Amino acid sequence: MQKYAKMENHKLNIDLIDSFEKIPVKIFTTPKLGSAYVAAEIASLIKEKQRIGEPCVLGLATGSTPISLYAELVRLHKEEGLSFQQVITFNLDEYYPLEKEALQSYWSFMHRHLFNHVDIDPANIHVPKGELPKEEVKKHCLAYEQLIDSLGGIDLQILGIGNNGHIGFNEPGSSIFSKTRMVSLDNSTRIANAYEFQNISQVPRMAITMGINTILKAKRVLLMAWGMKAPIIAKTVEGHVTEQIPASILQQHNDCSFIIDENAAAELTRIKSPWLTGECEWTPQMIKRAVTQMALKMNKPILSLTTHDYNENGLGDLLVEKGEAYDINLQVYYLLRDSITGWPGGKADAVIPNHPERTEPHPKRCLIFSPHPDDDIISMGGTFMRLHDQGHEVHVGYQTSGNIAVTDEFVTRFLDFAVGFEEQFGIDNNKSQHILSEARSFIDHKKTNQIDTPEIRSIKGLIRRCEAKATCRYVGLKEENIHFLNLPFYETGAVEKKPMSEADILITMELLKKIKPHQIFCAGDLADPHGTHKVCLDIIFESMHRLKASGEKWIADCWVWLYKGAWQEWDIAEIEMAIPMSPDQVMKKRFGIFIHQSQKDMVPFQGSDSREFWQRAEDRNANTAKLYADLGLTKYAALEAFVRWHY
Ligand code: F6R
Repeated sequence: MQKYAKMENHKLNIDLIDSFEKIPVKIFTTPKLGSAYVAAEIASLIKEKQRIGEPCVLGLATGSTPISLYAELVRLHKEEGLSFQQVITFNLDEYYPLEKEALQSYWSFMHRHLFNHVDIDPANIHVPKGELPKEEVKKHCLAYEQLIDSLGGIDLQILGIGNNGHIGFNEPGSSIFSKTRMVSLDNSTRIANAYEFQNISQVPRMAITMGINTILKAKRVLLMAWGMKAPIIAKTVEGHVTEQIPASILQQHNDCSFIIDENAAAELTRIKSPWLTGECEWTPQMIKRAVTQMALKMNKPILSLTTHDYNENGLGDLLVEKGEAYDINLQVYYLLRDSITGWPGGKADAVIPNHPERTEPHPKRCLIFSPHPDDDIISMGGTFMRLHDQGHEVHVGYQTSGNIAVTDEFVTRFLDFAVGFEEQFGIDNNKSQHILSEARSFIDHKKTNQIDTPEIRSIKGLIRRCEAKATCRYVGLKEENIHFLNLPFYETGAVEKKPMSEADILITMELLKKIKPHQIFCAGDLADPHGTHKVCLDIIFESMHRLKASGEKWIADCWVWLYKGAWQEWDIAEIEMAIPMSPDQVMKKRFGIFIHQSQKDMVPFQGSDSREFWQRAEDRNANTAKLYADLGLTKYAALEAFVRWHY
């Protein structure tokens, strides 16, 4: 077992220190590898129980986190003969009220992802019932607990974690003594789970969940977390036990481990500030991280940091190894200063040694990959405009149609326009009238989460294409520089997408070979393992690797820059190129975002942030500018940030 620092009665166990973690945490490079590890532990438990002739009682979770675990268990069943005949399962929770057959029920989820594909006896499957009359729920919960106890308890409990620290649906404030019961869902959970439904109003307000006590009674607990869970993971394993973070109570379990990926580990002290937990290699990047963190924490510009500050912040080692505080300050200051440039494509006829981009060739062929039809303008609108205005040949490759994020009302509104347009100009409008009436009748009778007809999906895609084209025209691009890839992985009509396929890669390689870009910009949402952006990024990475391997010459001189999607920004110390925007450019970008009318106001699948996209973009760009200013650099109105990907 991995060593960890366990704090009991506020005393540190000195023998076990190499992190601040109070629960053993295993970090994997990808969710797939973490899931394979958990699946292997489950498989060996099932086999061991089989060998001694006992049933194996598993506690299971739903949500996006365990999907790859269930895929691996199904593979182990199909390819390696792992049998579930002696397995008894208890799911953590279920929405209330919700029929089990509903697409969004956890009963359906479990059947879709696991039970339908393995040899489990249906009588051994237990999921809390979300369809009982309210007066029967208490009895049902009691029986659920008793059944678990009568089987000798849960042998292994799988958990995910909510951004608010919930486990099961035990929201902040849940008692350590809680048992299986009906709970009311936290608003943040309803918002986070709204992606499973058409919109937030359809997310049930209540749920039935196993209690914290039920979970703590499991003999072994494995909590998994991927991607954007880093802040809550750090609080859970490094902070105090508190009912305000229900998962932190797992510190009191004697056989619990966290299985997480590198992104979810990013805020752990041993990863984020490794100099505080042991020796670290003082690379320029590590020094930049340590010094910027210290400056922001101390609320001091970098050049004002003193030897005393270094010692106070656990950076005495750095002084011993690298010398005077002032010299280190300067080194970091120059790194930050050199990342700022108004010339994202390189400055023509200028030799600036530490400029983030090379000067030659000039002008460059630049290809911006935009996962959805508005990511280009939202995430790098200022840079997009600068590249064009500075004479580069800018292309945009829109990767997906983005058609699920358009409301039905937009479809009938645009069809009305098409019918009216044809009528106005004496064009036969029988066909469009027919399409309009079909669409109206489908939409009028549409059930929750019913997949749109192919016609409606294509109209929704067309609406988004027109908006993207209008934005490109607004920036000044020629029609032939706008490329719609309509990648097939996205075209399920539902939130859950297909995995990346050969077709996606071939389409992307085709565009790359046609343009032969000197510069590529793409959404580097590395911490978004289930989202569209991550699949889009994986497709580009795979295409680039293949083109490089095939010996394409241009690729040796092609630089790839990653921007973050609408939700987050790069950590200040990671940024390698920061493009300033004047107040006027901020306004110009805002109007560019406004062109995406179908994404304004209440868009479907908005996520947990109720701000509109232009507001998020402006807040984020202004915040980056503020951080640079806080560190003692010039204060710009806004900055867009990029990190280079080396391949
Ligand atoms: C699921 C459950 C929840 C999820 C948590 C994380 O049965 O009880 O606690 O594990 O909300 O959800 P995802 O995995 O979708 O991030």
